[in-house]
Amino acid sequence: MKLLSALLLLLVVLALICPTNAQDTLYVVVGGTSTTCTSLDDACGSIQAAVDVASEGATISIGSGTFVENIRIMTAGLTLESEDEENQATIESAGGVPDQQAPADVPVDVVVDLLAPNITLENLSIRHPMGPATKRDVGVFVRPPAVNATLSNLVVERYRTGEPLEPFAPGSRGLLVFRATGVVCEDSTFRGNYQDHIHLPTSESHIEDNIVANATRLGIVIIQETPDSLSIDNVIKENTVSGIAGDGIQIQGDRNSFIDNTVFGCAGYGIHLCGANSNPPCVPPGQMANASQNQLSGNFLWNNDLGLGEPADFGVENYIGPSHEFTNVAGTEAANNDLETTTMETHNDNGHNNNNTMDGGDKNNNTMGEDHDPEDNGEEDSSTSTTTDAATNTSGAMRRLSDVDSFVSHMAFALIAAVAVLCL
Ligand SMILES: *[C@@H]1O[C@H](CO)[C@@H](O)[C@H](O)[C@H]1NC(C)=O
Ligand SMILES: *[C@@H]1O[C@H](CO)[C@@H](O)[C@H](O)[C@H]1NC(C)=O
Ligand SMILES: *[C@@H]1O[C@H](CO)[C@@H](O)[C@H](O)[C@H]1NC(C)=O
Ligand SMILES: *[C@@H]1O[C@H](CO)[C@@H](O)[C@H](O)[C@H]1NC(C)=O
Ligand SMILES: *[C@@H]1O[C@H](CO)[C@@H](O)[C@H](O)[C@H]1NC(C)=O
Ligand SMILES: *[C@@H]1O[C@H](CO)[C@@H](O)[C@H](O)[C@H]1NC(C)=O
Ligand SMILES: *[C@@H]1O[C@H](CO)[C@@H](O)[C@H](O)[C@H]1NC(C)=O
Ligand SMILES: *[C@@H]1O[C@H](CO)[C@@H](O)[C@H](O)[C@H]1NC(C)=O
Repeated sequence: MKLLSALLLLLVVLALICPTNAQDTLYVVVGGTSTTCTSLDDACGSIQAAVDVASEGATISIGSGTFVENIRIMTAGLTLESEDEENQATIESAGGVPDQQAPADVPVDVVVDLLAPNITLENLSIRHPMGPATKRDVGVFVRPPAVNATLSNLVVERYRTGEPLEPFAPGSRGLLVFRATGVVCEDSTFRGNYQDHIHLPTSESHIEDNIVANATRLGIVIIQETPDSLSIDNVIKENTVSGIAGDGIQIQGDRNSFIDNTVFGCAGYGIHLCGANSNPPCVPPGQMANASQNQLSGNFLWNNDLGLGEPADFGVENYIGPSHEFTNVAGTEAANNDLETTTMETHNDNGHNNNNTMDGGDKNNNTMGEDHDPEDNGEEDSSTSTTTDAATNTSGAMRRLSDVDSFVSHMAFALIAAVAVLCL
């Protein structure tokens, strides 16, 4: 009897605290006025409004049209997708969240900022529009605890005009995966004038079937933050990279795979495995980036200004398997296939800005003192917490809490988890 009444009491309590309006799908349309986003007829007008009321695991269905806002997602498992896959919704920067910085002292304009695990973005366009850049532009920013994000069928584009295109260093990024592991980016298009389109100081991410065009510096780059940090086990597969002002694909990290990519029309190397003798260097003098034990096969490199049809390997113990059959269209370089003696000058006649000697990697102009990643410190404010080398550390947000806060939040989490389980 005691047990039964205890159970009844528990049920009553649960009935009171279980959210009655927990929704699987929330709706957003241009001009929507709802604050609860319950249906297409009762839709919200802002994506952030829906994100703010969504529970873990919910889907946010977004009507076609352009939403001018900057989105921050701090709820795990959310999916944001276009309601009509034929008419993708566009999220266009509204100028960034006020006072947000990344790294410290660099104002940043992030269109979609992922700060929780297991988030999916699907069938969306993400854009920095025309007009002068006033901050550091980042299209999609993924950082711990935002591991395991899935980015699928996106268009990520930047159309900034005016000078300078990059008012801050580090410069703009289409996708910046900063130490957040397990990210999948597939079937997406990156275009326009981001400095780097896909920028990866991270591990265990899959970059597959993307079109990457016209970045003003690098197409896809795996950053090695420090000699002893890890940027490993990434898979870069079946991407098409073209028209990049520097290297199409640049590799600073170790033990990554590069399979069946096509790279053409770039002013640097098609694929550049960095090392002490890289020419041009990947990182500024005095710093080191050695690519080692990476595996390459089936890549199709053509009409790039450096390296002809083969990956340029300045690293250590990389395994370079057969390339895709190669047809050189570059003409003047046919006789000069000696990478070690290739100089910038011989390739500086193509109208691209080849000034990437000091600019190829991600470690130049470090004014951040002890910070391990001067360029892309994911801390969003100028708080004094120093980031550790957290390539595999997914506890970014939690570790800023004091022990007491941590204990309380653990208890709160346990309670919420218990309620969530019982509510089912
Ligand atoms: C996204 O678009 C693709 C291709 O058009 C389609 O196959 C997929 O079902 C769409 N996803 C969603 C969630 O609508
Ligand atoms: C994320 O998804 C993985 C795999 O489905 C699951 O094991 C994990 O618990 C999820 N994490 C969160 C925080 O939802
Ligand atoms: C991320 O995914 C991996 C593999 O599915 C899983 O083991 C891990 O728990 C996930 N992490 C989180 C925080 O959900
Ligand atoms: C890249 O730039 C070239 C030349 O301006 C243009 O023809 C091409 O459409 C661009 N690629 C993409 C995917 O926008
Ligand atoms: C990079 O390779 C060079 C040449 O093999 C070696 O001297 C140097 O120690 C390596 N550096 C790192 C960080 O692995
Ligand atoms: C390259 O850099 C040098 C020195 O900073 C500068 O004088 C020159 O104009 C630059 N060239 C290009 C093509 O930007
Ligand atoms: C380095 O950064 C400082 C401060 O942001 C700037 O004044 C300087 O021009 C930069 N130097 C280079 C080589 O980019
Ligand atoms: C993660 O960060 C915490 C707190 O800074 C640290 O104690 C821990 O050693 C880190 N773990 C790894 C794997 O770096």
